[in-house]
Amino acid sequence: MTTATTAPKVYIETVGCQMNVLDSELVVGTLKRQGYVLTDTPADADVILFNTCSVRELAEEKTYSAIGRALPRKRSHPETIVGVIGCMAQKDQEHVRKRAPLVDLVVGTGQLARIPELITAARKTGAPQFALSLGRADGGRHEVEASFESYDPARDPQMRPTPFQAFVRIQIGCDKFCTYCVVPSTRGPEQSRHPDHIVNEVRVLVDQGAKEVTLLGQTVNSYAHDHGDGRTTRLSDLISRMHDIAGLERIKFVTNYPKDMTDDLLDAVRELPKVVKYLHVPVQSGCDDVLKRMKRNYTAGFYREMLARCRERVPGVAVSSDFIVGFCGETEESFRKTVDLVAESKFKNSFIFKYSERPGTKAAGRFPDDVPEAVKKRRNNDLLAVQNANSLADAREWIGRAVEVLVEGPSKVGVKTGGPVRQLVGRTMTDHITVFDGPDRLVGRTVTVDVTDASAFTLFGTARTAEHVGVETTREPEPLAPARRIGLAVV
Ligand code: 5AD
Ligand code: SF4
Repeated sequence: MTTATTAPKVYIETVGCQMNVLDSELVVGTLKRQGYVLTDTPADADVILFNTCSVRELAEEKTYSAIGRALPRKRSHPETIVGVIGCMAQKDQEHVRKRAPLVDLVVGTGQLARIPELITAARKTGAPQFALSLGRADGGRHEVEASFESYDPARDPQMRPTPFQAFVRIQIGCDKFCTYCVVPSTRGPEQSRHPDHIVNEVRVLVDQGAKEVTLLGQTVNSYAHDHGDGRTTRLSDLISRMHDIAGLERIKFVTNYPKDMTDDLLDAVRELPKVVKYLHVPVQSGCDDVLKRMKRNYTAGFYREMLARCRERVPGVAVSSDFIVGFCGETEESFRKTVDLVAESKFKNSFIFKYSERPGTKAAGRFPDDVPEAVKKRRNNDLLAVQNANSLADAREWIGRAVEVLVEGPSKVGVKTGGPVRQLVGRTMTDHITVFDGPDRLVGRTVTVDVTDASAFTLFGTARTAEHVGVETTREPEPLAPARRIGLAVV
């Protein structure tokens, strides 16, 4: 029970994409400004929040089980507020309450700013509170857009993956309407934030210690802010502006849409030294028929040309992709085409998902989910095997080379062993995960590492720490990155 002298406690569980991680940071930041403290244990929380994902069914099922685990707390302390927020809340609204009647708050992605006020209302009235944006067909474009607030309040460094890495939303929503995807409904129409707001936010983040920012958008390279006076700011313009911020060391952006990978953007990636030479550009399938049914609006041939253009304009760029296997009507022959594309494309890595039919999407209405689960599983494994072989070959090419690693913290092994020198982990400018032994004080720094070995997903090396020792003596050692506050399960 909360007393006048004890700060109320909030517990939050996050699943899904980086956009959700950012939303959780913002929600917790807002609640902390209202006097809340963050707790890692739902058992002593006054407010329990589930920030949800609807992209695949599995994500939703996991959330319902997690909500079930909050039941004992709610029974013993009925004043505890349990909230379902984010994509599942927006998509399923009443259904969430039906399946989980203990839930007090159902708050969609575009209404997160209202959480403090809704907690108060739920306490006062004892009635469940709903705050949802309009559905895509529930009003005119402007009306629907206005109901999805961008929600970018003051930030809270404690909730970041590490103190020197921050996500920055530059775009909300999506207008691509791929037939399998819930995102255009859960996150609403595509809207690009004003570049001045974004650049100011990055300045503040850098003042707070951020060295790397990751710009987020569902189709981030479609970013285009129309100033209403004939001027448009593109992503290339935005990153050029941001590049001048002193203290900012790295700029990343995810996720890209193949058709919007313009030359001006690729030129900016090549020319601007702070921009990470890594592009995540999901293709989803290597078969034109499947791509057509997915309504991706490009062919495998177009994607191949785009990939060649990325590599020509940005020499040495690392590219990764997403795939959905077992989409409606995917035959062995269609799948083979995807395998061929993966084999030849030499992606640094790929995220492979089994198709999960999502009620309400165009695909669910139009095409039967006709690939058996066992076949989806096998295709997933087969594709992964091809990708893993390529990832290993790619990683081994780095052996004998020196890479610049932004050190994120101790590796899992490092945490176990302790001591002054332990295994640290970070990423290179091409987004390769790299581990090496070093002292804690290197965390948050960029270190040159000589790569000596590699597995499919990790480069191993030796840090040239000598060049940092001299610098260290003039500086206070920085504290280790706190443990991640958000248990991010990518489902
Ligand atoms: N089933 C399986 N995977 C999906 N994705 C999006 N929707 C679905 C779905 N219904 C995948 C796509 C996308 C990634 C974020 O999730 O590959 O790029
Ligand atoms: Fe979903 Fe397609 Fe938009 Fe990506 S581009 S969020 S897959 S609709």
